[in-house]
Amino acid sequence: MMETTGLIPNRTGRRAVLRLIGNTPLAPLHFEAEGVTLLAKCEFLNPSGSVKDRLARHVLLDAEERGLLRSDSMILECSSGNTGIALAMVGAAMGYRVTILMSSSASVERRRLIRQLGAELILFDSAGMYQTGIELSREMAAKDGRYFLPRQFENPLNATDHERTTGEEILRQVEGPIDVFVHGFGTGGTLAGCGRAIKKRWPGARIVAMEPAEQALLAGECPCCHFIEGVADGFVPPLLRDAPLDDSVKVKSAEALAMTRRLHQEFGLLVGTSSGANVAAALRLGAKMKPGATIVTLLCDRAERYFSTPLFHEAN
Ligand SMILES: Cc1ncc(COP(=O)(O)O)c(C=O)c1O
Repeated sequence: MMETTGLIPNRTGRRAVLRLIGNTPLAPLHFEAEGVTLLAKCEFLNPSGSVKDRLARHVLLDAEERGLLRSDSMILECSSGNTGIALAMVGAAMGYRVTILMSSSASVERRRLIRQLGAELILFDSAGMYQTGIELSREMAAKDGRYFLPRQFENPLNATDHERTTGEEILRQVEGPIDVFVHGFGTGGTLAGCGRAIKKRWPGARIVAMEPAEQALLAGECPCCHFIEGVADGFVPPLLRDAPLDDSVKVKSAEALAMTRRLHQEFGLLVGTSSGANVAAALRLGAKMKPGATIVTLLCDRAERYFSTPLFHEAN
């Protein structure tokens, strides 16, 4: 049972959307030219359109259960977009005000979705990257006790929820052993949580991090500009320290964009750029493996939040 009583009035009827989060399908994608079949978890089918719905639901229900939220509480988070949209959606359904701090470089579609869901949006200068937003959220919380900070980058619930839900779902959906799980990282929650669940059941599975070639921090290279929104925010996130990583794969932004367009045009899957990056990484690994190897990755979010980005520039 997901509903809790806590200090706010019971608004069960308003919370129906929470039940639509998770239990996403796992789609087999056959790439004929490469002779590789991948299994792709369709996280873009979550109700707000991304994998981040899971984090938003889990952290806010947990906070409510532990009595950390009151009827006048305000959710405050720094996000590159998808977490902001997810928190705005879950906050609306649970009856809490939400304020999102977002870099001015995030796409205009993300800003509109957050505002449309009734949340307040504060944009900060993208030059200082995430640290600016994180510091701002701490300052605001220090001045006003009504703010509740989900702290997606540090909160262990982020990874443990993926271990318990996304990871367990994958294990139920895949018949037999998993050879490789490959995925990018923003907070690292998905990679750490799914990686732990998969490794526990199949110790021989390789857990591989996808990172933009322009910002291959795990490969020891310097951060630089890339176009894969939602991943690689300029630092190695703390949650990744607990990820059972075996390896990392670099994908160029141009390669990610090209593969995302292939997913649109060859498979009819309207997903975002990090999904294309994940698939490009998975195909590269698959090409070196025995035929029939089981490679799992994630399709993280939907394409409509990229209309104003390079992903759609060539098409229009
Ligand atoms: C589009 C997209 N892909 C991948 C990720 C990475 O997920 P995580 O933060 O769990 O590492 C995110 C995170 O925001 C995202 O927005």
